[in-house]
Amino acid sequence: MKAIVSTKYGSPDILELKEVENPVPNDHEVLIKVFATTVNRTDTATLRGKPFLARLVTGMFKPKKPILGSEFAGKVEGVGKSVSSFKIGDNVFGFNEDGFGSHAEYMTISADKALTTIPENISYEQAAASTEGAHYAYNFINKVDLKRGQKVLVNGATGAIGSAAVQLLKYFGANVTAVCNTKNIDLVKSQGADKIIDYMKEDFTKEKQKFNFIFDTVGKSSFAKCLPLLESGGIYISSDLGYMAQNIFLPLITPIIKPMIGNKKTIFPMPTDCIGSVLLVKELIEKARFKAVIDRKYPLEEIVEAYKYVEKGQKTGNVVITIEHNNTA
Ligand SMILES: NC(=O)c1ccc[n+]([C@@H]2O[C@H](COP(=O)([O-])OP(=O)(O)OC[C@H]3O[C@@H](n4cnc5c(N)ncnc54)[C@H](OP(=O)(O)O)[C@@H]3O)[C@@H](O)[C@H]2O)c1
Repeated sequence: MKAIVSTKYGSPDILELKEVENPVPNDHEVLIKVFATTVNRTDTATLRGKPFLARLVTGMFKPKKPILGSEFAGKVEGVGKSVSSFKIGDNVFGFNEDGFGSHAEYMTISADKALTTIPENISYEQAAASTEGAHYAYNFINKVDLKRGQKVLVNGATGAIGSAAVQLLKYFGANVTAVCNTKNIDLVKSQGADKIIDYMKEDFTKEKQKFNFIFDTVGKSSFAKCLPLLESGGIYISSDLGYMAQNIFLPLITPIIKPMIGNKKTIFPMPTDCIGSVLLVKELIEKARFKAVIDRKYPLEEIVEAYKYVEKGQKTGNVVITIEHNNTA
């Protein structure tokens, strides 16, 4: 099969399109013929082996598996003998949180991981783009006790995480203020944001309104800068580690100093429950309450260009990789 291979950590230029052996599912796995995948920020981080701590999962000195790729959509082509939850011919999609396998014509994944059948109302491409950003977005939301009508500011509302966060927050009944670029105002409005701040014209940290939660889904702010915008008891969460990895340490410090800072705190959104995220996304797609934003599409053969584009940090939503199967093995 065709696959994109990387045997060391590095820039997109180390990626090679190669012919490799087809994977064989073990007793607990399904074999998937991949029709669409994505290049997302999880993949760019895995390619570079950054942050260094992530190498505990992805491999200390080189990627522990040579084929990267986390989101996928395709057709089940084989099942291990212990698998009863999927059958050959099922259209499936999901997110392989260990970051490997989907940048290839075929992949295997354990049937008890984060995959499910594709709703009938969407394409492989749409399905593939629906999981990574939504998983991280849901892992902001499930860290707080969000009540209907509470005010949430989403910075970076046009990224994979941000565009999913706006849609999920609206589904859960929040009042959403979204921060984005001028060119994406209509898009963010169409996703249901109640108020939009154009970061090209205004600094959202000068905002007079206060928020119960601030989700910086693009990691461009800091707890200190957002503190005045939080209601008493408010919570700040960022997708990035921040200056000197402060977003890892602040959750330990803010509970101690909270009487001095109006009972406000920050939480690190450690992602958990990947299966729950994928099942939630499926339910919302079926209810027409979630639609992944797709920016660009590239064929598998041009994945290096896709990585280079995604690494710029300027994609709108998601970048899809399409896979054509010429010799259907
Ligand atoms: N380490 C990991 O495994 C991992 C995994 C996933 C995500 N993350 C982190 O999570 C963050 C978000 O990921 P993502 O996939 O959602 O990002 P993304 O899709 O790459 O985000 C890009 C979006 O952010 C917007 N943006 C850029 N600068 C902005 C600013 N100053 N204010 C508001 N919006 C701005 C861009 O809009 P314009 O360019 O149009 O203005 C673009 O739409 C990234 O920082 C990434 O490093 C890390």
